Amino acid sequence: MEGLKVLVTGSTCGIGLHTAKIIFKKGATVILTCRDEVRGRRAVESLLVGVKEEDVAKESERIHLFTLDVTNYNSICEFTDEVSKMFKYIHVIINNAGIMGVPFELSVDGIEMHFATNGFGHYVVVERLLPLLLKTNRPDFKSRVIVVSSGLYRNAETIPQVSKLLGQKTYEYSSKQAYAFSKLANCLYTVALAKMLEPHNVGVYCVRPGFVNGTKLGRETHWFLRALAAPLI
Ligand SMILES: NC(=O)c1ccc[n+]([C@@H]2O[C@H](COP(=O)([O-])OP(=O)(O)OC[C@H]3O[C@@H](n4cnc5c(N)ncnc54)[C@H](OP(=O)(O)O)[C@@H]3O)[C@@H](O)[C@H]2O)c1
Repeated sequence: MEGLKVLVTGSTCGIGLHTAKIIFKKGATVILTCRDEVRGRRAVESLLVGVKEEDVAKESERIHLFTLDVTNYNSICEFTDEVSKMFKYIHVIINNAGIMGVPFELSVDGIEMHFATNGFGHYVVVERLLPLLLKTNRPDFKSRVIVVSSGLYRNAETIPQVSKLLGQKTYEYSSKQAYAFSKLANCLYTVALAKMLEPHNVGVYCVRPGFVNGTKLGRETHWFLRALAAPLI
């Protein structure tokens, strides 16, 4: 992966952090995102664990940390503007940042939180970074977008009306359904974007990671349920 530039959203912990670590070890330049600078710095440090003291300064040049809240349009615009100024190319975008099981809440832009985080915000990030993905300098590597979905997409019972996602109508909110729908949206988005980008030789793939223990995704889940589920996971 040497020479490739890889963006991983939500890289302060969990799957995003471990993905960034592996990709960094394989020689890529990694673009990390955080909402909280302290957590972001900690992530950067953990990527450098094991790097020889004399190589730290040089290796650090392959790590770039940005602030991004994918539920906030202004934050997305600032982030994508900064990235576009700093980089000519991005070879891989990994839409990883996610939340699960949060009570009903609207983002600052008025969008239901699961959909805003797991789906819509990433759609805007990718739209705004497409020029960097399309003009590649590496004909030997097929640039790609990787969307981290979940097998729980299958639990989505309905596709909610847009007015519900925008909080304009009261409805019986279920955090499980909201998560499932956001992950179904990931799958549908992948299919649509893959078709759109096929002529440009950019791949779009959806990943189902399975149950991954030790991440912070279940922070809203009751501790007792988490303890029960842990051995199964
Ligand atoms: N763990 C599993 O078993 C599992 C299974 C299937 C799918 N997945 C999917 O895998 C992805 C990663 O999950 P995980 O288990 O690694 O969860 P995690 O440990 O909670 O990590 C989530 C990451 O997303 C970031 N994030 C949350 N809201 C954000 C926002 N508004 N803007 C920017 N970043 C935000 C978090 O940053 P902060 O540090 O700021 O909170 C964190 O870095 C998610 O899309 C999830 O749906 C996980």
